[in-house]
Amino acid sequence: MTDFAATKAMFHLPEGVLYLDGNSLGPLPKAAAAKVQKMLTEEWGQMLITGWNKAGWMSMPTDLGDRIGRLIGAAPGTVVVGDTLSIKVYQAVASALELNPGRKVVLSDNGNFPSDLYMADGLLRSLGEEYELRVVDPEAVAEHITDEVAVLMLTEVDYRTGRKHDMKALTELAHARGVITVWDLAHSAGAIPVDLAGCNADFAVGCTYKYLNGGPGAPAFIYVAPKWADTARPALSGWLGHEAPFAFDLDYRPGAGIERMRVGTPPVIQMTALAATMDIWDMADMDDVRAQSIALTEQFIQQVEATCPDLQLASPRDPAMRGSQVSFRFADGYAAMQALIARGVIGDFRAPDIMRFGFTPLYIDECDVSRAVEILTDIMQNRLWDRPEFKVRQRVT
Ligand SMILES: Cc1ncc(COP(=O)(O)O)c(C=O)c1O
Repeated sequence: MTDFAATKAMFHLPEGVLYLDGNSLGPLPKAAAAKVQKMLTEEWGQMLITGWNKAGWMSMPTDLGDRIGRLIGAAPGTVVVGDTLSIKVYQAVASALELNPGRKVVLSDNGNFPSDLYMADGLLRSLGEEYELRVVDPEAVAEHITDEVAVLMLTEVDYRTGRKHDMKALTELAHARGVITVWDLAHSAGAIPVDLAGCNADFAVGCTYKYLNGGPGAPAFIYVAPKWADTARPALSGWLGHEAPFAFDLDYRPGAGIERMRVGTPPVIQMTALAATMDIWDMADMDDVRAQSIALTEQFIQQVEATCPDLQLASPRDPAMRGSQVSFRFADGYAAMQALIARGVIGDFRAPDIMRFGFTPLYIDECDVSRAVEILTDIMQNRLWDRPEFKVRQRVT
């Protein structure tokens, strides 16, 4: 059984803050500061360029990939870390399209994160007018998986509502129609158990700064199923994905397996912080995390609905149908969220009217949830959000 009191003690949580935004940016693992400091002084400072070999910087993308792989049902050697998630989306969709020649449609849904849609759109435009990005309602995805579709590109858990797609069923359906799948796990990795191998998923991508707590700007990851690992051609064919980067050949030859999905120089400082959070994840079992996440989200929904009738649940009521976040709709949700943040309860807001709260058992417990609801209730019942300073929109919401 995962010891959640022990994991909570390993995070730096500022005094007076109830942090319900780990679905956007996880908090700082206490060990990260010392680990990064050590990397800076002992590795970069002393080893200089020899750190790539001596300190193992060059193998960090695959070492970290294997550690993340455990949380998402991916075998060692199938996940690599690097770049940003938007870049990894592009890379996965481009490779998947090439593996399905003759088909020109990428199917997605309007619950997908806009950057995924933008990246796919940008890629398809550069491939030619005959390519099409088809975007349908999340509930209608299954009926649109036809033999015209080359690639199904979905984010498993909707960033606004927390609604969860059935990865196994949709992947099976896609394969039955000859469609290759790309799953975005930004709101799944570290939030819910994922079984990429068991679902027979083709490609998956995700970020490490949300539930995994890798820090702002932490690199993304990409998974390629073993059946495609040596045939997928990386559209972003950077030198570190080359079979022999230090041969400096003028022709590109993809590296073996997942190595080919590397692009350029990896962000070592950021990966060092990510390694600190993976030490905490090594103490956690995803089934325990899921059970506790469901307990916390159920508690939150029940308490909020009992005391805040103006808030309308936007997430699925059935816990099996949602990820690890709960969203409520409220017309003045932006102001209400600003009022909450001013009282130390940090969630976030997604236009036009969604107040989002993330539940992260590694460092949030039942007492935190009750306390957050007490403050939310005070703000809602006494209209404390209805003040001009809470209505001024900031750059990041
Ligand atoms: C589902 C999803 N996909 C893609 C992205 C974009 O990620 P990045 O900014 O790392 O490129 C995000 C960012 O929050 C996201 O939530």
